[in-house]
Amino acid sequence: MEDEKQKCCQCNCGGKDEFLEKLCEKYQPVKDNLIQMLNEVQEHYGYVPKHAQKALSDFLNVPMAEIYGVITFYSRFTLKPKEKYNIAVCLGTACYVKGSQKIMDRLKERLKIESGETTPDGKFSIEETRCVGACGLAPVFTVNGEVYGKATVQKMDQVLDELSAKE
Ligand code: FES
Repeated sequence: MEDEKQKCCQCNCGGKDEFLEKLCEKYQPVKDNLIQMLNEVQEHYGYVPKHAQKALSDFLNVPMAEIYGVITFYSRFTLKPKEKYNIAVCLGTACYVKGSQKIMDRLKERLKIESGETTPDGKFSIEETRCVGACGLAPVFTVNGEVYGKATVQKMDQVLDELSAKE
């Protein structure tokens, strides 16, 4: 195990990333810990940076491609920092049946990006989310976690206009 820990410190974090060093000390170097470690990385950085992927790959002996596959499979993990305005549209059942897909489509159309992407100016990122616990207000979207209920395409347009006008 000592070897594995040293391996982690030789990753391209250069041994300078205290968070990653501590993380590798906290866990056993077994593949089963990947998701839990990714959760901690996501929480700490707000995304999963490349050097952290490399550190986990070295530490857990899991190929980078597999780590990338896990990150892109789960919507809670992101490869880039969240941007200034993160807009998430709930596609959970209650919201979906009330037309949240149309709201998502409008968002993509207006910002010209796909879910999980960020606008080139870094101002907006968008994502699809599952139930945010506000089904009574369906359909719902959130802006940086703030819930907008009884949403419509028009409401999304209005919010985008307001946010676009802000610095
Ligand atoms: S399904 Fe959208 S808030 Fe519950």
